[in-house]
Amino acid sequence: MSTETVWAKLQSLMGAAIDDINKAADSSILTALEKKYLGKKGEVQAYMQHMKELPPEERPKLGALVNDVRGKIESKIAEVSKNIENAKLVADLKNRRLDLSLPGRIPACGAEHPLQKTQREIEDIFLSMGFEIARGPQGEWDYFNFEALNFPEDHPARDMQDTLMLENGALLRTHTSPVQVRTMLSYAPPIRIIAPGTVYRRDDDVTHSPVFHQVEGLHIEKGLNLTHLRGILELFAQSLFGKNTKIRLRPSFFPFTEPSVEVDIACIFCGQKGCRLCKQTGWIEILGAGMVDPNVLKAGHIDPEIWSGWAFGVGIERVAMLLHGISDIRLFFESDLRFLRQFR
Ligand code: PHE
Repeated sequence: MSTETVWAKLQSLMGAAIDDINKAADSSILTALEKKYLGKKGEVQAYMQHMKELPPEERPKLGALVNDVRGKIESKIAEVSKNIENAKLVADLKNRRLDLSLPGRIPACGAEHPLQKTQREIEDIFLSMGFEIARGPQGEWDYFNFEALNFPEDHPARDMQDTLMLENGALLRTHTSPVQVRTMLSYAPPIRIIAPGTVYRRDDDVTHSPVFHQVEGLHIEKGLNLTHLRGILELFAQSLFGKNTKIRLRPSFFPFTEPSVEVDIACIFCGQKGCRLCKQTGWIEILGAGMVDPNVLKAGHIDPEIWSGWAFGVGIERVAMLLHGISDIRLFFESDLRFLRQFR
């Protein structure tokens, strides 16, 4: 074959290829055509076999020619392929309808932490009875955490709380009770406050965490006695655990209250038949309380001859564990969404 013949044949092959490609209706046909014309064993490549028949000086021309044809077919394929894609997109958009009956997508949203929720429930109960919210620092002076609360230096009562010390006599408060004295020093009586907040102790097991939360309550007025304490704490317990919840007061000891009591609720799990959770006693301890010791009133510059008060401290984790039947305190702090989602 002469170069001219090869050239003419290649020209008509290219024409046929371009016709075929223009007619291709979808990408699978295009793929087949690409193989047919441009594949290793394709029709364009086949012309390379004629190389030997040509005089040596003509051979490079044939190579260039084949490459040229190949390039033209390739760009035609690319062009048609793009047109097919576009047509598909347009058809797709035309067919697609807006379905207004589909339910909306619910955005992923967080929820209140169970401790936060319990704290808010406790706050709401006391706010509805006319108490206000007070706060104090978590890094506290020994004076407010112990001394002003009638724990003398070296008094064995200080051993009741394993304290995390900071520098210069400062410490991480071991309870919210220091807010009692701080409030007395800032406001004149009568006083009705609750003080929610974080407290710290060197304690760590399934029911004790080194960081936990309490709500302190302080009520100072003329003529208060244990009956007022009992009445309000009973209302509190009933608001939290149900209308028929019974409470009982047991004698106890705190340096800052006299008399001091431990408040129990009738076991909400067994109806007082006796179970593991109430240790077969029918009662569950929920908080400590008592009449404010005259020495504490004095430290707060309040005259114990005129005013009297009662106070309580309740653990938020403890209440939340009782309310939701949670047996391991650490669950509150592990940020495990499988746990937290149950409180939504
Ligand atoms: N501060 C006590 C504690 O942490 C609780 C308490 C508060 C007791 C107020 C009596 C009055 O255990």
